[in-house]
Amino acid sequence: MIDLRSDTVTRPTPSMREAMEKADVGDDVFGEDPTINQLQEKVAAITGKEDGLFVASGTMANQVSIKTHTQPGDEIILETGSHIFHYESGAPAFLSGVQLQTINGKHGVITSKQIEAVIRPQSMHCAQTRLIWLENTHNRAGGTVFPLEEIRKIRVLSDSHALFMHLDGARLWNAHIATGIPLSEYARYFDSVSVCFSKGLGAPVGSMILGSAEFIHRARRIRKIFGGGMRQAGIIAAGALYAVEHHISRMKEDHDNARFLAEILSALPGVHVDLTSVQTNIVYFDVSQTGKNGDTIQELLQKNGVQVISVGPTRLRAVTHLDISRQQIEQAAIVFKKIFQ
Ligand SMILES: Cc1ncc(COP(=O)(O)O)c(C=O)c1O
Repeated sequence: MIDLRSDTVTRPTPSMREAMEKADVGDDVFGEDPTINQLQEKVAAITGKEDGLFVASGTMANQVSIKTHTQPGDEIILETGSHIFHYESGAPAFLSGVQLQTINGKHGVITSKQIEAVIRPQSMHCAQTRLIWLENTHNRAGGTVFPLEEIRKIRVLSDSHALFMHLDGARLWNAHIATGIPLSEYARYFDSVSVCFSKGLGAPVGSMILGSAEFIHRARRIRKIFGGGMRQAGIIAAGALYAVEHHISRMKEDHDNARFLAEILSALPGVHVDLTSVQTNIVYFDVSQTGKNGDTIQELLQKNGVQVISVGPTRLRAVTHLDISRQQIEQAAIVFKKIFQ
């Protein structure tokens, strides 16, 4: 089976498993797990932040960050397709009692002008705008990269209104590889950043929150409240550490494979791909012109050995990753041609 459903389906490589087996461990709730401490220091250094906090998942990284920044009744401004709006089970309302103000972006990008227009006045009648939330790369928009120039403008705006900024950087590694812009250059404009090790980097578990030492100190308490304090979790952190040390630069292969696949798909009858949105490792394609719906196409592909995800009535997603070689992409292309021609 060629599994293109998500970059989360990767399994740890033999060398990664070896690193995990040999990991030094301790009680991380006491701050005594040497492997976790090493990972936190390393990722804080490469993102230019003071400190990092290892957490179980991207969702936990995002939700702990929201809780640390906000009070109930606050409002977060974000793009309509954001992961926290669609795929985190209503957690911002459930866990932090905040409301979300969405803005329609283009390729997941919202502008400082759009944001400025929806910042609430300081009034007892209004929710309090507290946090600006960006996602880079943007999953639902197709793994698209948020331009640094716009991030800079948004930072100026947020400073002038005393707002915080968070970056959902679950796939920030991909943005870095696609543009060559250092992770630290992206991260410096944000008060907090979340990154994931279990997506394109191929580790089995784990994410991290990055920020000032003071922010991470407060986030550590929220992590405990949310039940996210782990003990000898250095075993999993070792997989993440291995991934950070060995799997960042190879992501270019995933991007090249995604582009190759997108170009083949876009030439097939009835299939539409917005090639401008294929900037990293995610390919969305629309099959409305084939007369079939997404679920039917997903089933047909699956029967022929290729897995993708149907994400709308006629919209599907294919993602390239560590466990997918160029040869497998070529095989998948043969299956796509068979189904659509
Ligand atoms: C942009 C983004 N943020 C956060 C998450 C949540 O990560 P997790 O599945 O580890 O909770 C995902 C998951 O795909 C994501 O794409």
